[in-house]
Order: sequence, then C-alpha cells, then structure tokens
Amino acid sequence: MTLVVATTLGDTPDELYERGRQAAAGPCDWIEVRLDGPGGLPWDLRAFFSHPKPSIATMRHVDDGGRSHADDETRAAILRRALKAGARAIDVELVHADAAALVQEAHAAGARAILSHHDLVGTPSPDALLETLREMRVLGADWCKLATRVESPSDAASLVEAARKAREEGIPYALMAVNDPFLRLLAPTLGMALAYGSLEGVPAAAPGQVDVSRLKAAHVGLAPRAARTRGTTRLALLLGHPVSHSKSPAMHNAAFAELGLDATYAALDVPPEKLGDALRGLRATNALGANLTVPHKVAAMALVDELDASAREAGAINTLVLRDGRLVGHNTDGAGALDALAEAGVRVASAQCLVLGAGGAARGLVHALRRAGAKVIVTNRTLEKAKMLAQDAGTLWLPWEEAEAALRHCDLVANATTVGLLADESPVDPAKLGARTAVLDAVYRHGGTKLVREARQHGLVAVPGEAMLLHQGARAFTLWTGKPAPVEAMRAALEAEA
Ligand code: ATR
Repeated sequence: MTLVVATTLGDTPDELYERGRQAAAGPCDWIEVRLDGPGGLPWDLRAFFSHPKPSIATMRHVDDGGRSHADDETRAAILRRALKAGARAIDVELVHADAAALVQEAHAAGARAILSHHDLVGTPSPDALLETLREMRVLGADWCKLATRVESPSDAASLVEAARKAREEGIPYALMAVNDPFLRLLAPTLGMALAYGSLEGVPAAAPGQVDVSRLKAAHVGLAPRAARTRGTTRLALLLGHPVSHSKSPAMHNAAFAELGLDATYAALDVPPEKLGDALRGLRATNALGANLTVPHKVAAMALVDELDASAREAGAINTLVLRDGRLVGHNTDGAGALDALAEAGVRVASAQCLVLGAGGAARGLVHALRRAGAKVIVTNRTLEKAKMLAQDAGTLWLPWEEAEAALRHCDLVANATTVGLLADESPVDPAKLGARTAVLDAVYRHGGTKLVREARQHGLVAVPGEAMLLHQGARAFTLWTGKPAPVEAMRAALEAEA
C-alpha cells in the first residue's frame, strides 16, 4: 500500500504549523514536517507533531535540496527533539555522519526511520540506484527514499527499472524524480511505500510534486490487488482452531499482492483430532505450505516429515514448507521476536533477560534469546515447568513469587504467558520495571496490552505482540517464496486490521 505524504513547509514556525493543520484536514496519510525553514524553530516542537495524522520530521540540508545550512550535529539534535516531541518518523540523509545511530534512536523511540538521498544533477544507472536503496536498508531504514533529476526518457526508464527491482527485493522504498511527477503518480503499481505530494494552493517543495488530492485521485485503482485466483495460484494456509480472528490472512495477502505473486493465503479451522488428516491432504497438493497456530504447534511435531533446527529447538512448529510432497516444520516465532527486538533497538547479546512463562511460546523465545547470546532466567506460575525449560535450555529459573523483585535488575522482560490475552491484565506490575528495562510482550491486544502501555508510560521501550506477529510472518513468507518479505506492506495491512 502506498502511503501519500503531504510535505509541509513554512517561512515561519506559525506558517509551518498552519500548513500541518491544512495537511491533516486533507486526504494525505502522513505529514512531512520540514523543519529546515528559514524562520528558526521554537525549543518546544510538540505543536508541529500534534496533528491528528502521523508526522515525519525532516531537517533537509541544502546539498539535498533543502534549506538548512546547519551541520550534521545540529540537524541530528533537532531530529532528536522532534522524536521527543512526538514525530512518528524521522528522515535522515544517507550521507549524514550519524545516519545509522539516528535510525537506531528512532526505533528505540518507537518511531520509523527514513534514509534519503537526493541526486540533484542526474539519474544514475538502475543498478547504482538499487545499490543505494540496499545500503539504506542495510543501515536499518524502514523506508528508503531516493530522488533524482530526470533529463531524458532514458533516465525515466532507469527509475522505473530500479523501482521494479526494489519491489522484487522487498525493499520498502520511495523513488521519484525531483522534477517530474510521473513516478509519484504511478507509485502504487510499483509497490512503492511512500509518494510525496504538496498542499493545494501552496508552492510545492519540488517541481515534481503534485498536490495530495490529485496524487490520491491518481492512485485510485492502481493499488496492487490480490492476484485473481487461477489454476496456477499457489496456496498458503493457516491451520488453527479457532482462526476466525486471525490477522495473518490480511498480512500475507498484502505481501503477495505487494510483490505481484500469484499466491493467496487462507485460514482453515481444523479441530485438533483432524490435524493429521489435514496434513495428509496438504501433502497431496501444490500448496506453498502453512502456518500452524493454537492448538497445533506442538502436536504437529510428530506428524511432519522433517524438522529444521528451529523447530527441534523450540519443540513447536509454526510454519510448514511443502516441497515435493514432504512437509518440513520450522519455527519462526523465536527469530521473529529477535527481529522485533532489533527493530526497536533493543540489544540482546549479553543482556539479562527474564522470560515469564514456560509454555510453547516461552520455549521458542528462551532458545532464540540464548542463541543470540542473552543471559536468560525463566519464571513460571507452575515452577516445575520453569525448571524443566531452564534445564533444557541451560539457563536459570526463578520462583514466580520472586519475579517482581527481579524486574528492576533486568535489561529485558519478556511476557510469554497468556496473561493479557483475555483480560486487560499484566503478568507483573509494570511499575516495578527498572529505569532501563525493555519489554517484549508475546500477547497482542487492540490498543496495546497493559504491560506495553504502562511500560511506555514509564518511558521504557516496549515491543508489542503485533511486532512479533509481523516478523514471524515475514520469515514464514520468505521460507515459502524465497523472497525478502515486504515488511512495510505487511505492517500496514496489520495496522489496517486493528
Ligand atoms: P503458549 O503456547 O501460548 O505458550 P501455553 O503452552 O498454554 O501457551 O502456556 C501458557 C503459559 O501462560 C504458561 O506458562 C502458563 O503458566 P502455567 O504453566 O503455570 O500454566 C502461563 N499462564 C497462563 N495463565 C496464567 C496466569 N493467570 N498467571 C500466570 N501465568 C499464567
């Protein structure tokens, strides 16, 4: 899904604020707040980020087509203030000396990071453009933005070719000509993450911008749609009981559509006693594979043809890959949790972690954390299960009653119990977390679980269950298709389901 971003500029802070209001009242999805105006900035930036739409803070240098002459350090300090003031994303030039650190800081603040580059002279070759986008992705950018000057039809062709390849590689990208709107108008057909437009009646930030209303109107009908199901369409399934509330179909179908793959994802309700039949049937088809959810993750271990190391280690399967009639069981839950932590800027290596719970979800998490070099303590309401898991993973355990006292000594507290699923409760008192304890919650809940909400209120980094769902799904997608998952499209689909 292409998000339309309204760029707002102002000669004075008041004007910038007013333009933000105008943008928020219009049809854009996000607002870009250009802090590089000539009128200076107040110390408190909160007003600029108080509009009812998410905002990107940009402090564009003149070398990249902006109006700021400030050095990297000064611009970085303003972006940091913007994050504190509520910016939901920051835009950092790829050439900025602290680009990688700022990406991490954005993630730690629960915000997204755009890395951007502007070639104001010409358009490099498609391979060079792609290389720059890859570099941004490697540095952790959630969105990779590249704008060039188009001087010839050949330049335009280079941009389209690079766009197609970026899409194939699953890079969340925005590619545009600074001096021509054609690519912005076609953005959804190329699976672009963002398209920038101007405000109606206001001079555009770049000659290639059209106003957001016309951009939105042009995009209607261009969005990638789920492939029409045909005889060639490959199927991926979710097997669970129940499955009616799952967000996985929305997430995976958005991913298939984003990459233009001839595949579709459907959820099937399979009661426990029928799992064997379902898997036997699945072997006879040309499906890509399946996801398994409650209550099948452990039972399937004995029913598949092969287990990979992640499934053996976790003692549970959440992803099945079908190859030549054989079902191979994988577990992407643990690695997905690590991806979600990395995205939030939480360091796991050598970190002291407390895992709450000793069921299926805890097993995968404990082993993944151990493999990533964390020091893990397991605690569980039923002590025997904590002891067994700790022994199996070569870690320590703690009685449940003593867990709260240990919270403040931990770098990471991970909830792998089911507490928070049915009622708005937290397994431990969030007020007892340490001043620098990060939180991971395997449970997700509309509006956030109590543990995640309250940890954030205390200024702590908290990774919600949705982020784990997203990243386990992204890894399953790659196992089925062999392609990097279009994570931003999947995230947008999950958010739309909320
Ligand atoms: P999953 O596959 O999601 O891990 P599970 O295997 O049923 O589900 O595990 C549920 C976990 O949540 C267990 O660790 C369970 O503790 P017990 O082993 O003592 O049952 C934990 N849990 C469930 N309800 C709980 C509660 N009210 N307080 C504390 N822990 C709870």
